[in-house]
Amino acid sequence: MTSPSFGDYQLEIYGAGLHGVLPSFPMAFAGLEARAGQALPPSVLSYVAGGAGREHTQRANVSAFGRWGLIPRMFVGAARRAMAVNLFGMTLPSPLLMAPIGVIGLCAQDGHGDLATAAAAARTGVPMIASTLSVDPLEDVAARFGGTPGFFQLYTPTDRDLAASLVSRAEAAGFRGIVVTLDTWVTGWRPRDLAASNFPQLRGHCLANYTSDPVFRALLGQDPSADLAATVALFARLFGQPLTWDDLPWLRSLTTLPLLVKGICHPTTRAGPGTRGWTGSTAPPTAAARPTAACPRSTASPPWWTR
Ligand SMILES: Cc1cc2nc3c(=O)[nH]c(=O)nc-3n(C[C@H](O)[C@H](O)[C@H](O)COP(=O)(O)O)c2cc1C
Repeated sequence: MTSPSFGDYQLEIYGAGLHGVLPSFPMAFAGLEARAGQALPPSVLSYVAGGAGREHTQRANVSAFGRWGLIPRMFVGAARRAMAVNLFGMTLPSPLLMAPIGVIGLCAQDGHGDLATAAAAARTGVPMIASTLSVDPLEDVAARFGGTPGFFQLYTPTDRDLAASLVSRAEAAGFRGIVVTLDTWVTGWRPRDLAASNFPQLRGHCLANYTSDPVFRALLGQDPSADLAATVALFARLFGQPLTWDDLPWLRSLTTLPLLVKGICHPTTRAGPGTRGWTGSTAPPTAAARPTAACPRSTASPPWWTR
């Protein structure tokens, strides 16, 4: 695995500047956001940038993050930064992972953003959590990881055989952990997407893990490209099994890989009936859910909840 000194990337930019080459991408987030607005088709932009209701939760999350800071220590001779962490038996060069983004495939100009993200993971050593909803099948995504470990995010289907198939494919493809998303069984009320009557998956986008799956294909009974409406209808029927704690032993039985649960917000859920086989959890709810009245994540811990 590459273990870069991340801060040194800027030296590439300053070095190129000595030869009169300016960066081709904006350096500040607002500039990147503005460029994305110019480059992305409006339907993709509204899905990526939009939230539920008045989008209050998104803004609250951003300001909640703004209240966190780092306090550097002095007199420690930090010529080399050590940001590596051990996670589930793996040594990662930083505590960051790339969150699963179901339409990232559509966000690249060539329509293969899942592969581009995997290539970025290979270059940086920052693991990608590859979404169930991707333009390219999970095997093709995993093939681009290089030495960087990858994680597969599972939207647990209503059909258990399909769930088992997706998990075993991920394991066979070399993913190093399964991240089970617990929310998004109902999407939030998303005015931007509703106004354009646009939901990418219902238009047949990002379904490659389904259309390449033997269980899905058997259930469909025909080539997925033969009848897009039938393919999308089957996807819609199979998407989204709201889980209970009782489902966890079954999920655990599907794989020996680390099993992470994604979307737990309330501390009583964490402290609930034990961990029953899951290895860890990631906190933020997914964007498609993006609930209107959810609390900002940095407040989602005691004493806020216990007041
Ligand atoms: C456009 C978009 C697509 C997403 N797709 C998925 C997905 O396929 N699976 C998933 O578990 N989370 C998905 N998420 C949720 C993110 O992984 C993440 O949990 C969420 O955006 C909260 O983090 P943030 O506040 O930094 O955006 C998506 C988020 C966005 C913005």
